[in-house]
Amino acid sequence: MGPGRMWHSDRVLEAVLLVGGQGTRLRPLTVTTPKPMLPVAGVPCTEHQIARAREAGVTRVILGTSYRPEVFSEYFGDGSRFGVELVYATEDVPLGTGGAIRHVASLLESGPDDPVLVFNGDVLSGHDIAGQVRGWRENEADVSIYLTRVEDPRAYGLVTTDPEGRVLQFLEKPATAEECVTDQINAGCYVFRRSVIDSIPIGRPVSVERETFPGLLAAGAMVIGFVDVGYWLDLGTPLAFVQGSRDLVTGKAPSPALPGPIGDFLVRPGAEVAVDAILRGGTFVGAGATVGSGAIVDGSSLFDGAMIAAGAHVKDSVIGSGAIVGSGAYLDGVVVGDGADVGPGNELTRGARVWPGVVLSDTSVRFSSDR
Ligand code: GTP
Repeated sequence: MGPGRMWHSDRVLEAVLLVGGQGTRLRPLTVTTPKPMLPVAGVPCTEHQIARAREAGVTRVILGTSYRPEVFSEYFGDGSRFGVELVYATEDVPLGTGGAIRHVASLLESGPDDPVLVFNGDVLSGHDIAGQVRGWRENEADVSIYLTRVEDPRAYGLVTTDPEGRVLQFLEKPATAEECVTDQINAGCYVFRRSVIDSIPIGRPVSVERETFPGLLAAGAMVIGFVDVGYWLDLGTPLAFVQGSRDLVTGKAPSPALPGPIGDFLVRPGAEVAVDAILRGGTFVGAGATVGSGAIVDGSSLFDGAMIAAGAHVKDSVIGSGAIVGSGAYLDGVVVGDGADVGPGNELTRGARVWPGVVLSDTSVRFSSDR
């Protein structure tokens, strides 16, 4: 390796995390906490991402915030506790994914031809980050887009590539089966040449998926796909969120930010679980949470201080901080906001969401939905 290349790889590798979204699909959890700060198996998604980026050689991270920026800075500070230098760029008004990337440009230290990693803040992935950066270098690309494959791509942005991996076309959220011309989707992690970031229009909302990437293709830029079919999950919806938590607890999703060993459940210190309660299916029990006698908690996530009373049955659900599930209640696929109280005997199933602080009196609700 010549001296020029040595110098290149010794440069600080910077990553930008886009964490400014409102997370509307995850309400009511995101009423109090931005989506990337919600604890997935007890650790914010942003922390999982920082740990993985660091493993791949990233030493400087810029958080592109907008919604509730103080929640990030209070937790992460200057990043030293997490082994990286952390810098914040806060938008006064949300600028969209592309606008947010442009907004952090003045804080980047990378040179014009250096790679800058960009992550969507709500993705859990096990993809080969260092390999993606390597591929970007080897192809002398302007942008590399991490692509994964899914069975039903309709909810995602489709990306077609030629046999050499060069991107041919972007198709956002196809409506019909005929439009699903590929199963490759944009998985939300990019490597940008720094100078490409500088070319995004400044001071107005820009969508990287709808405007920047198609514009680069039209201009003949070298945009490549990095296909990796390792673990990938977009934590955008309640069902996906609880799935991500389960996968981290059972070890299906890799994260250097979690304490080992992994198993069928993970109980944080300070939680109290009755000896005859059953925890299974990748359940997470946060600090100070309690699970009463005979309760069953299956594939669910209990945030700090949540309380599951005796004989309750909670399945595939998220129970917010300090929320209460009364004795004998049955919850399946439900989100209970922070501090809410689902009284004894209530029955809530798929799609039900209880807003923070709401109190449902005893056996008042039998709610079911197909959503
Ligand atoms: P929904 O409202 O449920 O769609 O979630 P969201 O607002 O997070 O939007 P989406 O999932 O499409 O966003 C993808 C990623 O980009 C997330 O990590 C968001 O935090 C981030 N993001 C979206 N819009 C903005 C923005 O305007 N500014 C910044 N800084 N980040 C954004």
